[in-house]
Amino acid sequence: MNMEIKSRFPIFTEYPDLVYLDSAATTQKPDTVIAGITDFYQRGNANIHRGVYPLAAQATERFEGSRDKVQGFINAQKREEVLFTAGTTAGTNLVAQSFVLPRLEKGDNIVISAMEHHANLIPWQIVCEQTGAELRVIPMNTKGELDLGTYSSLLSNTTRMVALVHISNTLGTINPVEEMIQEAKKKGIPVLLDVAQSIAHYSIDVQALECDFIVFSGHKLFGPTGIGILYGKEEWLNQMNPYQYGGDMIRDVTFAKTTFAGLPNKFEAGTPNIAGAIGLGAAIDFLTSIDRVKALQDLKNVQSYAESSLLTLNGLKLIGTAKDRTAIFSFALNDIHPHDIATFLGEEKIATRAGHHCTQPIMDFFGLPATTRASFSIYNTTTDVDRLVQTLGEIQAFFS
Ligand SMILES: Cc1ncc(COP(=O)(O)O)c(C=O)c1O
Repeated sequence: MNMEIKSRFPIFTEYPDLVYLDSAATTQKPDTVIAGITDFYQRGNANIHRGVYPLAAQATERFEGSRDKVQGFINAQKREEVLFTAGTTAGTNLVAQSFVLPRLEKGDNIVISAMEHHANLIPWQIVCEQTGAELRVIPMNTKGELDLGTYSSLLSNTTRMVALVHISNTLGTINPVEEMIQEAKKKGIPVLLDVAQSIAHYSIDVQALECDFIVFSGHKLFGPTGIGILYGKEEWLNQMNPYQYGGDMIRDVTFAKTTFAGLPNKFEAGTPNIAGAIGLGAAIDFLTSIDRVKALQDLKNVQSYAESSLLTLNGLKLIGTAKDRTAIFSFALNDIHPHDIATFLGEEKIATRAGHHCTQPIMDFFGLPATTRASFSIYNTTTDVDRLVQTLGEIQAFFS
């Protein structure tokens, strides 16, 4: 049972009946994250890097302290390799425009998978359109597993980037990214990994993975919205041009010419989300303070219980049945529209999501306009599963 962890999330004290099954969209926030953000605005607010008065120095220290925490959390070799962004989307766009675009020519290609979130699809599609390069897509089977044989054959000496999702936010598939990164490395191809859905539950070690870039959002690992991380290998980041230009990223400015600051400032133009970075640091403190191995095991137990309980409902079809999966369940229920299902569940205080989950190509693949998605996290319990399954049964009865 995850009751001890659940008690750390004030929203569940506020709404004791809430069954929150939308953690793939955003996670709830623990007490210390909320307190960290409030404390910053109440006792620590000042802009960073510029002021010399104590409050400004403390704000800078807390902001930069969060960078150190992220560095440790993902085992980056250097703190300069850790860039604060607005989120996963900002990270993929930055890499597409500043790293890939200048290296991409007509006849080159970029490889992504059939299950990418739009945030890891459109930025690559756009740079391909800008240059006449080809977007190659690793196909998947009807379980939602990538075809690794085809993946190998898509990689060529004109592949400029492999951009891969670790865990699909729609299908729950856990992709064998270690193996896939090695395959690309053998051919000297850089890899970007979208760990938006995995970072909260799995340990991500960028050095062990040997990936060139990773992107994630603070709000999916119990931190605030509007803050995220782009990790990039120093060698690449040094070669890249800034993505945005303005304050706090320069060395010297004249009307004739501007020279840029070193890493990481070069990529952090303007006043950043200071409270967000501090909140993300608090989220990492939270995660490192709990027994993550046990939390993951508890989540897996809830996942197995959810899967077997959902499958007791005749007419429920899981969309995504890969062998290696996480606790994200997309499903169709008879021919009831997912929006009706999610609305009905919402009235019973059960939060799920209906739609294409920013993965329209997955919907096209399965021939569906939308699915209902129940996504679980470390604060969910088997009681949540029971409430979900019981209410889905009531929905079936209502619509039959
Ligand atoms: C796998 C994956 N990639 C990217 C994103 C985009 O994240 P954000 O909207 O925080 O930029 C999401 C969010 O749902 C996601 O699940």
